Amino acid sequence: MTIRSRLDKALNIEDLRQLAHRRVPGFALAYLESGAEDHATLQWNRRIFDRWRFVPDTLVDASQRSLQTRILGAPARMPLIVAPTGFNGMLCHHADILLAQAARDAGIPFALSTMSSASIEEIAREAPGCRFWFQLYMLKDRAITRDLLKRAEAAGCEALVFTTDCAHFGNRESERRHFRAPMKLTLKSMLNTACHPGWALDVIGRGRGVPGFGNLAGYFSEEDRASGRGAAFIVTRLDAGINWNDLRFLREHWRGKLVVKGILHAADARQTTALGADAVVLTNHGGRQLDGTISPMEALAEIRDACPDLEIFIDSGFRRGTDIAKALALGADAVMAGRALLYGAAASGRPGIDKALGILGSELDRTLGQLGVTSIAELERRHLRTNPASI
Ligand SMILES: Cc1cc2nc3c(=O)[nH]c(=O)nc-3n(C[C@H](O)[C@H](O)[C@H](O)COP(=O)(O)O)c2cc1C
Repeated sequence: MTIRSRLDKALNIEDLRQLAHRRVPGFALAYLESGAEDHATLQWNRRIFDRWRFVPDTLVDASQRSLQTRILGAPARMPLIVAPTGFNGMLCHHADILLAQAARDAGIPFALSTMSSASIEEIAREAPGCRFWFQLYMLKDRAITRDLLKRAEAAGCEALVFTTDCAHFGNRESERRHFRAPMKLTLKSMLNTACHPGWALDVIGRGRGVPGFGNLAGYFSEEDRASGRGAAFIVTRLDAGINWNDLRFLREHWRGKLVVKGILHAADARQTTALGADAVVLTNHGGRQLDGTISPMEALAEIRDACPDLEIFIDSGFRRGTDIAKALALGADAVMAGRALLYGAAASGRPGIDKALGILGSELDRTLGQLGVTSIAELERRHLRTNPASI
């Protein structure tokens, strides 16, 4: 069976995950899938959705439905945003560009990571018309940070997403087991990689080599980078001391919309708005940072009640349209999709990303119909009941 026909047969995000497992070698899958330490948060991010059960309305004509909404004041075709994810080039060639183009064509925003494979300028050139957001990891060297902001502004980025939950890098043991030293695979992982020739040809073949860091490479000399061996070196250049003053700094230096990603407390959400941010992302970084963290779904209703006018996005563990509907009913304005779309990219590049977006959109649309509502604005807490068995 060709990959195309396998893709046609994929019914849900889990099917795309299975396809990604066929195509991508173990070390790259570990990068994509792993959570921190015991994976307690990673697994909790999926299980939490069972805490709420739906209470549908009946005998409502919901034959005409729309997923249309507004995100940061501009129209979006559905309440989804492509989450910023680094090193996407390890999954398929030009993954960042393909994600940006797919987001544009689906009518939703795309967020490019500081640690992306493609540069800010490449995205601007290759995906014109995309609602382009740039995610910032604060670098120790503020001159570099200021330059990144300048580049993002020059490229027409609509929003800056300041990630606050990565100051101390997560301990992803299942990923580390594939390496004997930074960027040096174990023999077992090298042999496994050799068993994935389709991936190898696409990602590192044709003279492409290991994908780099399009946004950052220019700031460091070849010697610096070689001494620290790639990703591990760049992580040492991120600022572990970020604090509220950095948000003040960004509000002063960034004229566009400002989104803070890494919020789980109502008090932090309030402080974020007080300092002039336009929106927050409730997240535990997909279970990749502090193991044992709550799911953002557990904090959502409280934060919505504390900040009724704040624009709230959420991510971590979303794989189904029903998951998205539950978040919207609890008060989220949109969901950031991380691995759900990366599975599509890893399975087969652009067609896989389109398939993932199509699955999430059609599942959400069907959920609205089955709940007896015609638009996402009609989703309310009364459509949910806490599942007593899950408490
Ligand atoms: C492979 C991978 C790389 C990521 N890289 C970044 C990043 O560079 N910046 C960032 O703010 N978040 C990053 N994240 C976190 C995502 O933005 C998002 O919070 C997370 O993927 C949501 O969880 P989910 O994958 O379960 O949907 C990354 C996540 C993954 C899976």
